[in-house]
Amino acid sequence: MQTRRQFIASSAAAAGLLAGTAPRIAGAAAHFEAMELRAGFVQLAPESYPATGIWGVDGTVPGAVLRVAQGGRMQRRLINSLPQATAMHWHGIRIDNAMDGVPGLTQDAIAAGGSFDYDFVTPDAGTFWYHSHNQSVEQVARGLRGALIVEEPDPIDVDRDEVLVLDDWLIDPETGQLDDDFASPHSRSHAGRLGNLVTTNGAMDHVLPAQRYERLRLRLINAANARIFALGLVGLEGWIVALDGMPLPAPEPVTDSLILGPGQRADLIVDVMADEGEAAFLARVETEGPQSQVAFQVSGRAALARRPAPAALPPNPDQAVDLLGDVAVLDLNMQGGAMGSLRRAVLDGESRNFNELLQANQFWSFNGIVGMTDTPLARLERGQTARLSIFNDSNFPHAIHLHGMHFREVLAGDALGPLRDTLLMTRGERREIAFTAGNPGDWLLHCHMLSHAEAGMMTWVQVA
Ligand code: C2O
Ligand code: CU
Repeated sequence: MQTRRQFIASSAAAAGLLAGTAPRIAGAAAHFEAMELRAGFVQLAPESYPATGIWGVDGTVPGAVLRVAQGGRMQRRLINSLPQATAMHWHGIRIDNAMDGVPGLTQDAIAAGGSFDYDFVTPDAGTFWYHSHNQSVEQVARGLRGALIVEEPDPIDVDRDEVLVLDDWLIDPETGQLDDDFASPHSRSHAGRLGNLVTTNGAMDHVLPAQRYERLRLRLINAANARIFALGLVGLEGWIVALDGMPLPAPEPVTDSLILGPGQRADLIVDVMADEGEAAFLARVETEGPQSQVAFQVSGRAALARRPAPAALPPNPDQAVDLLGDVAVLDLNMQGGAMGSLRRAVLDGESRNFNELLQANQFWSFNGIVGMTDTPLARLERGQTARLSIFNDSNFPHAIHLHGMHFREVLAGDALGPLRDTLLMTRGERREIAFTAGNPGDWLLHCHMLSHAEAGMMTWVQVA
């Protein structure tokens, strides 16, 4: 007969295996592929500058594109060769809570020299990404980010699939090295750490070959700390087929500019319309005119004529949001920042005036509370619907990201928008989102302008 002690020991071992953590059984976790976080040098700035010191997954920026089948399992042994503790977050994945990579909420930070086995199932096909979630302002700004692609069971009818990680970097123009004032009060209280050098997949000039009438799937990922990308198509005709990894019910033609806040993604299907010998562009819409984000150098033809408009991507498992069932109604008032209306807020359990907050380099509050506390914004029953009304009572845009679950925006007449994981809100805006508390665990809810998150814009929800 099993003694109680043996039983506890063996069920703890089983629980550990399920969560992919210790205790390690020889042979089981041993062949997890390694991802080593370490320092490296990359030529980010023009050739007249030296290579820039970065921190990257295997020393590169962005890290390698990770691909996994829908319903498959991603297994990686993270090896921390950085001089700081770290953790990896798998943004947008409806993940096992223990694998979500949030130090202080879902795991302990992985000490310098330490390692951690990430092991999780990927239920939804789409464009996701991974990034450090410890001292994020610094670690993401130094380059710890990459694409995570979950592939549909049947290939999508395109000629090519291009993963495009959109980044920016704040580089000291004297030295060509990263500006290391990661805690700058100005970035924290204004629009976040904005870079002065914009890249795609780590290159300032990203040029791809293409053919006339070729059909491409472009997977756009905004991996920047704070930059909002406004993008347009030149010599390309395109449709948005997914947002934040999740397929739209029908492709939407790209007419104006496509806006991507930090953390957000868009999958486009584009047809190359520019003539042979010309270039087509994914362009940034800027005040001084369009700037090339990605150039497509057109030579040859992929077909004699255009193809018919693309079909929708196959839907992911249903995540119905029931506004009529058991609904928890919640508010999130975002206050703070420069020139804002925040006068007092609670920090570390005490009410402080704006001057005291400034001394602490904290500038933002959710419902009058600065930063994460032991109390979640909400405790939700599994399966319950949460309706969250969000008010941006500040002078800056914010990109509100929920971990572990996707939400829909509640539109006029209770119509529901597409599934997303990050909502970009301009100043003064009030918007409402709803989601089904379908994934048990403790889930972060924060601004993806990473300086804002570290300066107070962070809370969490608990799903029982
Ligand atoms: Cu993309 Cu909490 O993060
Ligand atoms: Cu913000």
